[in-house]
Parts: sequence; structure tokens; C-alpha cells
Amino acid sequence: MKAVLDKANFEAVLGIESSCDDCSVAVVTQNEILSLCTYAQTDIHRPFGGVVPEIASRNHLQTILPLVLEALEKAHLSPQDLSAVAVTNRPGLVGSLLVGVTTAKAFSYCHNLPLIPVHHLEGHIASLFLENRPQNRSNDSHYPLLCAVVSGGHTDLYKIPTHPSTWEKDFLSKNRLGRSLDDAAGEAFDKIGKLLGLEYPAGPAMDALAKTGDPKKYNLPRSISKKDLNFSFSGLKSAAARLISTFSPEELSKEKSHLCASVQEAIVDALMEKMKQAHENFNFGAIAVVGGVASNSRLRFRMEKELGLPLFFPSPALCTDNAAMIALAGAFRFQQGHFLEPQNILTLNAWATAEN
Ligand code: KG4
Ligand code: ZN
Repeated sequence: MKAVLDKANFEAVLGIESSCDDCSVAVVTQNEILSLCTYAQTDIHRPFGGVVPEIASRNHLQTILPLVLEALEKAHLSPQDLSAVAVTNRPGLVGSLLVGVTTAKAFSYCHNLPLIPVHHLEGHIASLFLENRPQNRSNDSHYPLLCAVVSGGHTDLYKIPTHPSTWEKDFLSKNRLGRSLDDAAGEAFDKIGKLLGLEYPAGPAMDALAKTGDPKKYNLPRSISKKDLNFSFSGLKSAAARLISTFSPEELSKEKSHLCASVQEAIVDALMEKMKQAHENFNFGAIAVVGGVASNSRLRFRMEKELGLPLFFPSPALCTDNAAMIALAGAFRFQQGHFLEPQNILTLNAWATAEN
């Protein structure tokens, strides 16, 4: 098996991501993304106001094989040219994950390729390293790096001790500083946006509408206790729902941009406060935000203005779920010898929770 013997070098890794509603397959090398093919199911779930797990997994079944073929074709590679296959196997919707995991197992078994199970959040963190390789913008002075994973499913803070090429196998569980105890930040945007009549996912529309609104017009609660680095957005969601229910449809349409700006400010305040608190505790060399909410313009503006540290964000297309980040996270693990040999892959399973 080529390249396995030479762990310091990999030629190309095929990545598969199907943890939620994006079905994505990519091929990455040490230097670049050769292909990234994604089928986003957003339009299919929109009428339901959120992701319907059963529909998501059935749709992955239909799209995943054409995406594998397309990703190889766009990369101008055949399976024999690959060094390994990486697949998200946790956390996520288990029916959706199983489609990706089963596809990856079959592909790796048929083509005698090593298989690398990847934690979805490790993939999001690896998205920081997808661009400008190998002269990556991060250097030793940026570590430890504070990385906030802020998406529709997660709001977690991690201390990233070193460059991913030397990450320990269990570095994620060892280095989580805080997380949301209830809703994720993106989920708060989506659920409050739905009450405002915005389509799913509401985050980008709220970001746009907030630009013409007054963030101080409505005083909404922020859960920013000093006692730990955890988040909570359910109080904000309930307060926003109560406030919205007091408006007539005409008033709601007049106040929409102010409501969006006030909600966004409450979410961004909570994120800023916890990042500042974490920096006071650990004296980070740089701060990064990954995941869908990393695209939020107010968050980026305030981080640039208030944090006084080097900042890293993936470009918007790589903030959302994609297989290139999974392929790269897998490649880093592969280089360290953390992978399953083809004869051992059949036991690999998918897990809904992050802890497995
Ligand atoms: O990372 P992602 O694609 O999927 C998950 O793993 O959840 O993130 C999607 C989330 C959605 O909740 C969406 O509303 C939010 O990211 N989002 C934003 C913005 N763009 C995407 N939230 C606020 N402002 C944005 N500009
Ligand atoms: Zn994600």
C-alpha cells in the first residue's frame, strides 16, 4: 500500500462529509484542494424550517456516489492515485453519518486504501489550514490558538496547542474550554429568524437585515457569567420569542431590522465576552473562528476592533460543512499513523455524539 509507508508524505486524500444536510466529497493534496463537490440540501429542508433527519439521510443515499465520481473526475485522479480515504464518523445525525461511513468503507475496501475516521469538529478546525498551504499563515507564535467552532450545531471553544501536524489523537477532548449548554449560536439565529418570518437558515438574512437596524433598540438577555466558558442561548431565544409575540404583523415588518440587529448583538456579545475571558486565562497567540457563523459580518468586525490579536477565518465557502476540511483533518491524522488498515475497516461505526 503506497504512501502508508511514507507517513510524512501523502499524495491525495479523498474526504467524505455527510454529518447533517450537506453531502460533500473532496480530494486534497499537501498543497491544494484538487476538487470539492457538494450537494447542499437547504432547499429540500427549507419548507420544514430546519433539517429533517430522515429526509437528509435518504437524500445523501441518492447523491453520494455521483459526488464521489465527480470529485475524482475533477481532480483528474483514479482511486489508485489516492493515499487514503477520510470520513466524518461523529458527531452528527446518525442516519446521515452512516451513509458517508458506509460509502467510505466500501470504497476503501474495494480499492485497498487506509480509512481515517474524522471528528466533524476537528474537520472544522482543519478548515483553517486549507488555504495558503504549505506556507500556511499560521506560525509558532500563534499557538496556543483559541478556536471557536460556531455553527448550527455547535458553539465550542478549543485551545489548539500546536499545528495540526502534531495533534495528539485525543487533543479535542483534552482541549475543549467551553461549549453551549443548550442551543448553538447558529441555531439561535435560525430559530429566532424563523419567528421573524425569515427562511431557513436565517443567519445570513439576519446578518444582512441587521446592517440597517439599531443593535441597541431592544435589550435582550446575554448569558455571560464569569464562572466558566460555557454558552447558553435558550434564554435569548425565549426572550426574543416573547418580544416578537407582542408585535402586530405591520409592526413586526417595520421593526424587523432592529430586531435582527438586537438579536445579533446579543449573540455576538456572548461570543466576544467568552473569547475575551478565555484569552485572559490562557494568553493566546491568535484567535480563529470556524463554522457557518464565522461568516457573520458583525462578529468579524468586532473581533477585528476589540481583540488585538492575529485573527483567522476560513473563507466563507469553507466555513460551512465541506469534505475538503475532512480530507485535510484526515490527512494530518494519516501523517501521524492514525488510520485503519483496509482489513480493519469493517468495524468502523458512526456516532451521534462527540464523545466516541
Ligand atoms: O457550519 P454550518 O454550515 O453547519 C453546521 O454544522 O451547523 O453552519 C450553518 C449555520 C446556520 O445556523 C446558519 O444560519 C449560520 O451557520 N450562518 C450564519 C451566517 N452564515 C451562516 N449565522 C450568522 N451570520 C451569518 N452570516
Ligand atoms: Zn459543521
